[in-house]
Amino acid sequence: MNIAVLASGSGTNLQTLIEQLHEDNTSDINIVVVISDRKKAYALTRAEQAGIPTQIVSAKNHINRVEFDAEIARHIENYSAELIILAGYMKLFQPPFVRKYHNRIINIHPSLLPAFPGANAVADTLEYGVKVTGVTVHYVDEGIDTGPIIAQTSIPVYDTDDEESLHKRVQIEEHKLFPQVIKWHAQGNVIVEDRKVILVS
Ligand code: GRF
Repeated sequence: MNIAVLASGSGTNLQTLIEQLHEDNTSDINIVVVISDRKKAYALTRAEQAGIPTQIVSAKNHINRVEFDAEIARHIENYSAELIILAGYMKLFQPPFVRKYHNRIINIHPSLLPAFPGANAVADTLEYGVKVTGVTVHYVDEGIDTGPIIAQTSIPVYDTDDEESLHKRVQIEEHKLFPQVIKWHAQGNVIVEDRKVILVS
């Protein structure tokens, strides 16, 4: 299966997907393009080092966000990507894009959704004082981190945690869960019934 990965930041999740999926000869998952809205995203360097084509799409070059999304969609079609993976991609899609790729966009989020959606999940988790947090991998719908949940992993929050220490432990779990879920999807083992996601083997 051809996948496009979108990333705005350092790309540690992308790195895991490169190593565990793209470079694994037993998997038929190929990252055909890495797209970023930030030209300085280190994720782009990681892609280049792995020989994966990159595209930078800048919001400044578009009159509105629908047009911006449309440029991303053009890249996805040009590279024949069948699945879109958001690996730390920090922009929201407009409804036409989400409808076009219904249940073909997968995001990873650093909390146990529906708790703490949005861009500051780890800080919000600590501030609220919950004792358990986690990682969620979900399909993307038109809301903010509201799409059908495919899989979650829980992680304890320690009294001594700060944002850095907690995010570090969250990322260890992200790097295990994300490739696994993408494999399930690619193998056709994920069935979506409204909001409910069922894993079959
Ligand atoms: C991850 O924590 C992910 O959950 C969130 O953004 C972060 C991206 O990290 N959506 P990285 O760029 O993959 O290191």
